[in-house]
Amino acid sequence: MADAEQTHETIDAMSWESRRFPPPVEFARHALVADTSMYDEAAEDDEGFWARQAADLVTWATPWTTICNWDLPYATWFVGGQLNVAYNCLDRHVEAGLGHRVAFHWEGEPGDRRTITYADLLDEVQRFANVLRGLGVQRGDRVNIYLPMVPEAAVAMLACARIGAAHSVVFGGFSSHSLADRINDAEAKVLVTADGGYRRGEVFPLKPAADEALTSTPSIEHVVVVRRGGNEVTMVDGRDHWYHDLIAAADPVCPAEPMDSEQLLYLLYTSGTTGKPKGIMHTSGGYLVQAAFTHKFVFDLHPETDVYWCTADVGWVTGHSYIVYGPLANGATSVMYEGVPNFPGNDRFWSIIEQYGVTKFYTAPTAIRTFMKWGDAEPAKHDLSSLKVLGSVGEPINPEAWMWYHEHIGGGRCPVVDTWWQTETGAMMISPLPGATTTKPGSATFPLPGISAELVDDHGQPIRHGGGYLTLTRPWPSMMRGIWGDPDRYLRTYWSQYPGRYFAGDGAKLDDDGYLWLLGRVDDVMNVSGHRISTTEVESSLVAHPAVAEAAVVGANDATTGQAIIAYVILRSGATVDEQALRTHVGQDIGNIAKPKTIYFTPDLPKTRSGKIMRRLLRDVAEGRNLGDTTTLADSSVVAELQRRAGEAPSED
Ligand code: WTA
Repeated sequence: MADAEQTHETIDAMSWESRRFPPPVEFARHALVADTSMYDEAAEDDEGFWARQAADLVTWATPWTTICNWDLPYATWFVGGQLNVAYNCLDRHVEAGLGHRVAFHWEGEPGDRRTITYADLLDEVQRFANVLRGLGVQRGDRVNIYLPMVPEAAVAMLACARIGAAHSVVFGGFSSHSLADRINDAEAKVLVTADGGYRRGEVFPLKPAADEALTSTPSIEHVVVVRRGGNEVTMVDGRDHWYHDLIAAADPVCPAEPMDSEQLLYLLYTSGTTGKPKGIMHTSGGYLVQAAFTHKFVFDLHPETDVYWCTADVGWVTGHSYIVYGPLANGATSVMYEGVPNFPGNDRFWSIIEQYGVTKFYTAPTAIRTFMKWGDAEPAKHDLSSLKVLGSVGEPINPEAWMWYHEHIGGGRCPVVDTWWQTETGAMMISPLPGATTTKPGSATFPLPGISAELVDDHGQPIRHGGGYLTLTRPWPSMMRGIWGDPDRYLRTYWSQYPGRYFAGDGAKLDDDGYLWLLGRVDDVMNVSGHRISTTEVESSLVAHPAVAEAAVVGANDATTGQAIIAYVILRSGATVDEQALRTHVGQDIGNIAKPKTIYFTPDLPKTRSGKIMRRLLRDVAEGRNLGDTTTLADSSVVAELQRRAGEAPSED
């Protein structure tokens, strides 16, 4: 964790914002929630509240006997209950006569389209569930998914859920090395991948990266390959199979068997403060309840008329909870888009919203800031009047971006819901309810009904006003159940800082009206374009390069990506390597999202007398701030030298 000095600087960094936006009267009139009764009900009895949501939103094959077992830090929810997550996302809607409803309007980057109804999706999921069984996958096994944004990603996830196998989705932008690490940690039996996918008008190859990973993943017995890119791939006889061949030959019926409420639904790897990614564990009943609850009420979902679009990739938790599980459990109609926002033009998103009549839109601050840069004229080219609610997730949204989003995308009439949550929380935790909450630009406002959040100071004492650390004090249904294979790390990372509290790793502050303002990470995790990357992970990758002796990595403020990765590197004596080669090395090692924006070569790093690298100082240098007292440094001339270099070095775009 950061030292106190570092923390306070983070926490004082923002001034109060006084603009307020009450829910528009017309919006509130049709909203699912337009008053505080749901908050009051949950405050009186949170477990009872969640039990009512569980009964309303999810279909159970066997009722639970205990709502929540809370044995700190382990919670189980809806204990004794049985359900099938895929049944809840598909079969029950089809049984209710909604088979013709569109589940996904899928749009490929080149402009090709597929319309997938709930009946279509159920059919394909049953077939693929049988395919997985045929490849030897059984209840409790792990299946790895490494796909572009194609409907088959949702099919594969739901097929796993149907047969009680856990999926582990790895974002398609991760390198073969990162993929291999995650496959091996999960000991996955089957890998589902694609030949390639479209990105910025070109096909990016995935299967070749998978092939490289597969040279060091002994647990994988079979590989299923979706044809999307049309690029040439090598198929290994007996191990590799084309998705379309298997689907065509598969038995179309695969009954949904009831699973225990605590059956492992998925693992999702996320960066922590050490180099090794953590396999966050999520189970079935509680997860589905909170994903469905939050999706319904935070977006004020009216499934008969809404067209909902979440622009995340399924490789991240936002894609899991708000492209797949939440929307499908609620019988929503979604848009799913394969590519980048600037192909063929900078107005692609706005053109999609206009064409499909999107009503509820969920994206990230980094995207919003990019759209601001591209100019007001891009959204103005399109009719965005179908929009009703705008969501934000992934990092703190600065008030300017919030206002731009509200005015230029929402036409000044759509409530903005800034939703704070994490891979670990599984679903939204802090967010306005659009028909009930008066928002302030830049504030995630209040914990949702049934959620208890509190700020504490360095000593773990609750804070009612001002800056502190964000903690959660009561269990919630979609909370992580642990870190795969590493229970000690679960205790240490989340439950050891403040006794009895879950520590999220974020700083926040409370204003006079009790509004929460998230201030970013207080640990060594960077947030680049809404993606979590650990400084240690990038440092380990840099020092793995033969020319590098030592490296220190910091996240520096960046106007577009939130934070940018800045690396300080000491080369081995006599060794040479250029910046571009090192960036490429990290890209190949971890994935392109982890490439440092700038690398400074330095003969030395600023360290305390006890040998600890002074990250705060490095961040100050990277952000061009004046440095205060550097007398605690082992050698204060290092900093002068670094500042000189920072002034000279060109930055990579
Ligand atoms: C940050 C993404 C401020 C935060 C769902 C958190 C946010 C981390 C917000 C989790 C928000 C996410 N306001 N910060 N609305 N949403 N964060 O696991 O630092 O990829 O701890 O989950 O993103 O990132 P993760």
